[in-house]
Amino acid sequence: MRILSGIQPSGALHIGNYFGMMRPAVALQTEGEALYFVADYHALTSLRDPEMLRANSRRVALDFLACGLNADRATLFRHSDVPQVTELAWILSTVAPMGLLERAHSYKDKLARGMSPNVGLFSYPILMAADILIYDSDVVPVGKDQKQHIEITRDLAVKMNETYGQIFKLPEPRIQPTTETVPGIDGQKMSKSYGNNIDIFGDEKEMRKRVMSIVTDSLAVDAPKDPATSTIFQLYSLVASKDETVDMRERFVKGGTGYGDFKKQLFEKLWEYFAPMRKRREEILKDKSYVDDVLARGAKRANEIANQVMDRVRKAVGLR
Ligand code: TYM
Repeated sequence: MRILSGIQPSGALHIGNYFGMMRPAVALQTEGEALYFVADYHALTSLRDPEMLRANSRRVALDFLACGLNADRATLFRHSDVPQVTELAWILSTVAPMGLLERAHSYKDKLARGMSPNVGLFSYPILMAADILIYDSDVVPVGKDQKQHIEITRDLAVKMNETYGQIFKLPEPRIQPTTETVPGIDGQKMSKSYGNNIDIFGDEKEMRKRVMSIVTDSLAVDAPKDPATSTIFQLYSLVASKDETVDMRERFVKGGTGYGDFKKQLFEKLWEYFAPMRKRREEILKDKSYVDDVLARGAKRANEIANQVMDRVRKAVGLR
C-alpha cells in the first residue's frame, strides 16, 4: 500500500494540521510505503515572498519530523524537487472538464475571502490530482476540507483511464472521523488564513494567549454548560485522557466552573501534549544538515517512482 499526503508551507503549522493530517500520517507510516511532501508549488498561489517560501518549506519539514515522521520509514520531500508533477498536471488539465473545477469549494471559498482569482488557484485541484496520481497512491490521509479534491482526483483518473486505457489507480481519502475538522479559536475550521489558529510550536505565552481568547457564550460561572458545542471541550478531548475528558464533561454539565478555568486547563494539557515534540525539534535543530539530508534522500526516492509513472503516462498518451 502506498500512502501519500502533502502540506502547504504557507506559515507555521497549527493543531488542525496536526490532528487532521500529521498524526494520522505518522500512524500510517508503518502500514506501507509513506510519501509526504511540502507543497511549495501550491503555496505559490498565495505566497509571493521567495525567502519566506524557502524558509517555511524547511520549517514545515522540520516540524513534521518533530511531530513523529520517521525519515527511515517514510519519504519526506519538497514538491518542487519533482517537477515532473507539473507535466502531469498539464496532461490531466487536457481532460479536465471546466465544470468540475468550477464546482470546487476551496476555490470559491478563497475568492470569498478576497484572494485574487489567479489561474493557479483555479487549477489547484489538477496539480493536487497530479501529486497523488504520480506516485500510484492508494491512501491519502487528509482533513475533511480536502475531501472534494480527492474526489476530483478520482474523476480525473477515471477520465484518463477511459480515454487512454488503464493508467492510474484510484486513491482513497483517509479522514479521521473525530478530527476531520478541528475548530479554531472562533469555532470555525482552524485555518491560518482565518487567523483563528493555535500553532503547534508557538512559544508558551503565545499559545496561552490564543487559548485564553477562545470565543465562548456568556453563561455565568454557576450555569450548566454544553460541552457538545464548546470549542474548549472539543480541543481538550483531543489532548486529554479519557478520564480527564469525562471529568471535564461532567463539570461542564454541572455548572460552577467558568470558561476561564476550563481554558487554563486546556492550555496546560495542550502545552504538555506537545512537550515531547518540542524536545525532539530542539534535538533535530542541533544537527544543522539533518533536514536538508532528509529532503535530499526523499527527493531521490520520490523521483524514482514519479519517473516510472511518467514513462507509463507519456507512452499511453502518445508523447513517446
Ligand atoms: P493544507 O496545507 O491546507 O493542510 C494540510 C493538512 O491539514 C489538514 N487540515 C485540517 N484538518 C482538520 N481540521 C483542520 N482545521 C485542518 N486544517 C488543515 C488538511 O485537510 C490537510 O490534510 N491541498 C492541500 C495540500 C496538498 C495535498 C496534496 C494533500 C497538496 N497536494 C496531495 C494531499 C495530497 C492543502 O492545502 O492542505
